[in-house]
Amino acid sequence: METRIIQPNNLHYAADILRSGGVAAIPTETVYGLAANAFDADAVDRIFIAKGRPQDNPLIVHVDSIAMAEGVTCRFPDAARILAERFWPGPLSIILPKNDRIPNNVTAGLDTFAVRMPAHTVAAELIGICGFPLAAPSANISGRPSPTSAAHVLDDLDGRIPVIIDGGHCHVGIESTVVTFGGGGVVILRPGSVTAQDIADAGVEVRMADGISDSRDEIPLSPGQKYRHYRPNAKVILIIGTAEEFAEYTNSHADSRSHALVFAGEEHLLSIPCRSFGQATDPLSQANLLFARLREFDKDAAEKIYVRCPHADGVGAAVYNRLSKAADSTVILSEKEVR
Ligand code: TXA
Ligand code: MG
Repeated sequence: METRIIQPNNLHYAADILRSGGVAAIPTETVYGLAANAFDADAVDRIFIAKGRPQDNPLIVHVDSIAMAEGVTCRFPDAARILAERFWPGPLSIILPKNDRIPNNVTAGLDTFAVRMPAHTVAAELIGICGFPLAAPSANISGRPSPTSAAHVLDDLDGRIPVIIDGGHCHVGIESTVVTFGGGGVVILRPGSVTAQDIADAGVEVRMADGISDSRDEIPLSPGQKYRHYRPNAKVILIIGTAEEFAEYTNSHADSRSHALVFAGEEHLLSIPCRSFGQATDPLSQANLLFARLREFDKDAAEKIYVRCPHADGVGAAVYNRLSKAADSTVILSEKEVR
């Protein structure tokens, strides 16, 4: 099949495909999603096929209003309303009990589903035109870094999907925060740019799921977290230490196919090709650039990427989470930097 890239002024073209049970790659503020009508089980199956996604990994349902979210859940607790009013539209996915309008393949057989209202105007407008919610995982081949531009989607899914809506580079760059309810508050199953502190500031009790930033642990509550994720072709070696320790280790271990990912201003310490992903103190820009950089290393045909590990505070917790899952190995050079 030919994959067509369209501009946001042509949304009716994508809406027609979605209405007739097809899939469309759409921009959101986090990453590009591969969308289908969330009420149409056959359409949803096409998402799993195009991505090569395991059937037991549930999708996120995208809505354009709290009312649309209420229309697909059998209970919308007060705490969910507080979160939705505070963070929607935006990068927070809330796990709620589903009703029977949502087919079982959206939720991989679970009786709960994840729902969010994306902040990207193109996504919101498209849902409005369709009039139904869109089930959408990230629009990458399963296991690869999530796409943050239309070109990334094309790299992974060319010939496998009919249409990509080009909405530019995603503003956040990593996937939404996923929360569930438990023990009187919310539990963060996947960290994102809405942080634990942001949720606490909204007056909702919050904690991180156990082992969330550790690639060795599975989080059984969120099926997707058990799979390998965010992986470029190159091996990723995550290094915890200071800039100088990083440079010394990397320069002495690197070979001719090794590249490095460092913070802006540190490039001169390295004797191998390197790219940067924001300042050491700026996790928002790290999040914004991380997946694009991992994909650029693939274009460079890098075999190994030595990555300088960010601090896992605030949004940094989400960047660290993605990197620890992408990593084939982690090297700890300073105990004081260990999180
Ligand atoms: O920002 C995002 O969330 C992007 C954009 C496209 O909205 N979407 C995205 O979808 O990242 P995906 O499928 O790559 O990640 C969905 C995550 C998975 O980790 C999945 O296991 C979890 O949400 N999830 C979905 N439904 C769940 C449920 N009922 N219980 C627990 N976890 C669930
Ligand atoms: Mg994904």
